[in-house]
Amino acid sequence: MIVVTGATGNVGRPLVQALAAAGAQVTAVSRHPAGVDALGAVRHRQADLAEPQSLKPLLDGAEAFFLLVAGAGENIDPRDILEVAKAGGVRRVVLLSSQIAGTRPEAPSHAHLRAIEDDVQQSGLEWTVLRPSGFDSNAFLWADMVRSQRTVAAPFPDTGLPAIDPADIADVAAVALREPDHAGRVYELTGPSPVSPREQAQAIGDALGAPVRFVAQSRNEARAQLLQFMPELVVDGTLSILGEPSPAEQRVSPAVEQILGRPSRTFTEWAARNIAAFR
Ligand SMILES: NC(=O)c1ccc[n+]([C@@H]2O[C@H](COP(=O)([O-])OP(=O)(O)OC[C@H]3O[C@@H](n4cnc5c(N)ncnc54)[C@H](OP(=O)(O)O)[C@@H]3O)[C@@H](O)[C@H]2O)c1
Repeated sequence: MIVVTGATGNVGRPLVQALAAAGAQVTAVSRHPAGVDALGAVRHRQADLAEPQSLKPLLDGAEAFFLLVAGAGENIDPRDILEVAKAGGVRRVVLLSSQIAGTRPEAPSHAHLRAIEDDVQQSGLEWTVLRPSGFDSNAFLWADMVRSQRTVAAPFPDTGLPAIDPADIADVAAVALREPDHAGRVYELTGPSPVSPREQAQAIGDALGAPVRFVAQSRNEARAQLLQFMPELVVDGTLSILGEPSPAEQRVSPAVEQILGRPSRTFTEWAARNIAAFR
């Protein structure tokens, strides 16, 4: 049995599907119901990472689990979760972290992720840490605007970053959860090439078959928008990467192709697959 936390999100959903397609028994976990048929035939269970004992019946007897701590991880102590996993006989954990844990080790915005990495690496379990770049699915932020005004408003229009398709993170996680060769490894994961917000808007327009106007936001306008759903520290850390990426943050990592034996997916592919959200 493989337990997947964050199972109804951008990464968890394709991860559950990839594991099930590979023939694994999967328990998909989130706090809220998964929705009718959202996870196919996979069994879904409600549990809260902030209450590690709620995971106990799910982790008991499982062989591996995928740990995803969403948001700023308030109220969540990963050490308690890892203890519950170990006591239940779990052998392997794969953690979803972030590229920033490697490229900006001092950034206060992601201090919680570095602390979770430390906890996982000291857990005594076989561990693998995934450090993805920004997700293609962050473009869902533009979905309302595209639907109602055929417009994308974003800051730093021509700064390209190698955003990654969450389905590629999921495919790498599925391999690391099932195969022993990835223990003790930290993988930086990116998409196949840098893509700018202006190019992303163009790709969404191409997939829609209708022109999408691009409006350059000022940093302050973007900050005000992001503050509506992200903590201030995370907003400022995010804007700093989007606006002033380091050379390491612009570089394409070979890891997805090395692990999966195929190139990572482009933003164009992501947009085509998810275009219903923008119609
Ligand atoms: N977006 C990016 O560009 C980016 C880049 C690098 C790394 N990351 C990392 O990626 C992660 C987010 O991944 P994602 O986009 O797949 O997430 P997501 O789409 O926001 O989904 C979050 C998932 O976690 C579940 N969840 C949230 N709080 C929970 C709790 N207390 N207990 C149990 N389940 C909980 C949610 O379901 P319920 O709400 O029903 O519980 C949902 O299934 C974060 O750790 C972030 O730091 C993101």
